[in-house]
Amino acid sequence: MTTAAGRIHRIAISTGGGDAPGLNAVIRAVTLAALNRGWEIYGIRDGLTGLLLPEKYADGGLVRLTRNSVRGITHLGGTILGTTNKGNPLRFPIEGPDGQIELVDRSDELIRKFRLHELDALISIGGDGSMAIAAALSAKGIRVIGVPKTIDNDLDKTAVTFGFDTAVAFAMEAMDRLHSTAESHGRIMVVEVMGRYAGWIALHAGIAGSADAILIPEIPYDINRVAEKVRERDEAGRNFTMVVVAEGAKPVGGEVSVIEKELGRAERLGGVGQKVAEALEVLTGKEARTVVLGHLLRGGSPTSSDRLISLRFGAAAVRALSEGQDGIMVAIDPPYVQYVPLTEVAGRMKCVPLDSDTMMTARDLGITFGD
Ligand code: F6P
Repeated sequence: MTTAAGRIHRIAISTGGGDAPGLNAVIRAVTLAALNRGWEIYGIRDGLTGLLLPEKYADGGLVRLTRNSVRGITHLGGTILGTTNKGNPLRFPIEGPDGQIELVDRSDELIRKFRLHELDALISIGGDGSMAIAAALSAKGIRVIGVPKTIDNDLDKTAVTFGFDTAVAFAMEAMDRLHSTAESHGRIMVVEVMGRYAGWIALHAGIAGSADAILIPEIPYDINRVAEKVRERDEAGRNFTMVVVAEGAKPVGGEVSVIEKELGRAERLGGVGQKVAEALEVLTGKEARTVVLGHLLRGGSPTSSDRLISLRFGAAAVRALSEGQDGIMVAIDPPYVQYVPLTEVAGRMKCVPLDSDTMMTARDLGITFGD
């Protein structure tokens, strides 16, 4: 963590990676806190693409933010600036003359444009990918403050990321609804949730939504163990079973289920829920149905907890700049917001600790992890 000298006149803000409920609340807090200090603030369109490809945008890719532009947006899902998960300036996808996509490092060009617009600092809101980009830009001399966002909650060095609580609340509500139909039909209901290579959403939604089995990437599952759970429940007169599967879960000795791999983008996961349901039908002879919650987890209005975290992060990011901070990410360390060096965050992932009390709670409740 370093402290940067120099007065601030004008800052930029960007939202990168998959959207998450709470992004607009951060934008509002950053904008108001910056304007209240007499700074100008500009929003970059679609991650950093607004700076790299300004010709794509009617407003030039950089939009001046005022009190008016951020009025009434705290409760709105999505991001008023737009976002992308294929705009990494260090590996920017460009179509070559042969139609092939090449990845090009455009970070120096980005920095030149940043300076041309006389921007003094960047507040970068994003997940692990955006924090790695922020760290690289910081190393190249841009003054950067990171704000951690992701429904997956898999960013290291912060107790929680905003978007996670909203995703869990929605998944839990979906499970409440699915319970009654599973019970009426005496079926196995398999609910697949996002979360990439970490099982946070599945674990929290599964416990809160009274799942009987939770399959997470951190524990490769044995489908026979899940089938045993179904049989045990049947014998106890409970003719239905609720299974939550994280998209990144994999069987013992098997691989994660990948839908698509595209150059310059993270692989798209999905399909494990259907595989689990099919295998359970074969092993138990019961009917199974799969529900993939997918992007429903990312949409809609942020919960009160996510709104508050987002507003706290936004205000803290501006305070950090006022205090001369540089190259840090704001992070929740209850009851405080702390500053963590971006270099300590980039490239690190936070998985579910298997000895956590949340895991023990699940086991004490009789929930199986397929192990
Ligand atoms: O990281 C957030 C997330 O929603 C993951 O849970 C999921 O795997 C991925 O993004 C989906 O990305 P996309 O919006 O590109 O389908």
